[in-house]
Amino acid sequence: MSEARRNKVICVANQKGGVAKTTTAAYLGAALARLNKYVLVIDSDPQCNLTYSLELDESQQEFSLENNLATIYESGQSAEECLLKVRDNLSLIAGASDLVMTEITLDSNPQSLASEPERMLRNALNPFRNRFDYTIIDCPPSQGMLTLNALVAADYVLIPTLASVISLTGLERMLEQIHEIVHGDMALNPELGILGVLITRFRKDRNAELEMEAKLRSAPEEFHVFKTVIPDRSQFGLLGELKTQTGKHLMDLSMVSYSLLPYLTLAMEIDKSLNTKVSSTSISKHS
Ligand SMILES: Nc1ncnc2c1ncn2[C@@H]1O[C@H](COP(=O)(O)OP(=O)(O)O)[C@@H](O)[C@H]1O
Ligand SMILES: [Mg+2]
Repeated sequence: MSEARRNKVICVANQKGGVAKTTTAAYLGAALARLNKYVLVIDSDPQCNLTYSLELDESQQEFSLENNLATIYESGQSAEECLLKVRDNLSLIAGASDLVMTEITLDSNPQSLASEPERMLRNALNPFRNRFDYTIIDCPPSQGMLTLNALVAADYVLIPTLASVISLTGLERMLEQIHEIVHGDMALNPELGILGVLITRFRKDRNAELEMEAKLRSAPEEFHVFKTVIPDRSQFGLLGELKTQTGKHLMDLSMVSYSLLPYLTLAMEIDKSLNTKVSSTSISKHS
C-alpha cells in the first residue's frame, strides 16, 4: 500500500436497460481485483442490482442502509464513511432505493443539495485520488442527474451495448450526452474520454449480431470498440448456465467462472491500454 496510485474512474453507462451495465460493473470490478488491482465499485442505480450481486452479509447490509451513495448526496456524508470492504482489494459504495428521491431533488431543486450539483460525486471522490487503482461506477438506465454526476466524476466512460439495431439508438444518445459534457457550453468534464464500446451478450451463432459487430467496428474514429466481446451465457452451454445461477462465485476470487473469464480478458485489455496511455513507467505493482 506504500505506492501512490492514480485512481482511474470508469463510468459504465448507457441509458438503455438490459445491456449488461450492472453485470459489467460487477465482473469488471471483480476481474480487476483478481488482477491485484485496488478497486472501488459504486452503485449509482436506485435498483441496487450491483449491491445485491455482491451478496453482502447481514452486518454489511445493515451498514449499507445507513451509509450509501444516497446518504453521500443527501446528508453530505463522506465517501470514506460509506466504504464497504467486500474483499481485501475490493470495496463498494452501496446503492439505495433513496437514490430515486435524490435524483428528483437533483432535477427539481439542485441548489438545495450543493452549489455544484453536477459535481457532487466528483467532489466526494476527491479523497480517493490515490487510494484505488480503479473506481467503477454503475449507472441507472437514464440520462438524469445520477448518470450526469457519474460522467462528470469519471475519467472514462465504458458503453456496453448489445449487437442489435435497436441498441444503437442507446449508443447514439450516449455519444450525444458525452459530446455535450466534453464540448458543451458548460463543459462539465472536458477531460472525459470514451474508453470504449463493449459488445455484450453476444451470440456468434446469429448472423445479424455478427453483421452488427462488423458495423460497429468499422464506424469512423468516433469510438473504440473493445477487442474483447462478452459472449451470451448460452454460448457456454449448460455448464455455463449452471455455474452462473449464483452470484457467490463472483466474489470468490479464488476461482474463475465462465462469466468472469471474458471480463478478465477485458480487464487486461483495459489495464494495458490505460497504463500505456498514462505512463509506461508508473504502473503500480503489488503482490
Ligand atoms: N453475458 C451474458 N449472458 C447472458 N445474460 C446476461 C449476460 N450479461 C448480462 N446478462 C443478463 O442480462 C440482464 C440485464 O443485465 P444487467 O447487467 O442487469 O443490464 P443493465 O444494468 O444494463 O440493465 C440480466 O438478467 C443479466 O443477468
Ligand atoms: Mg443495471
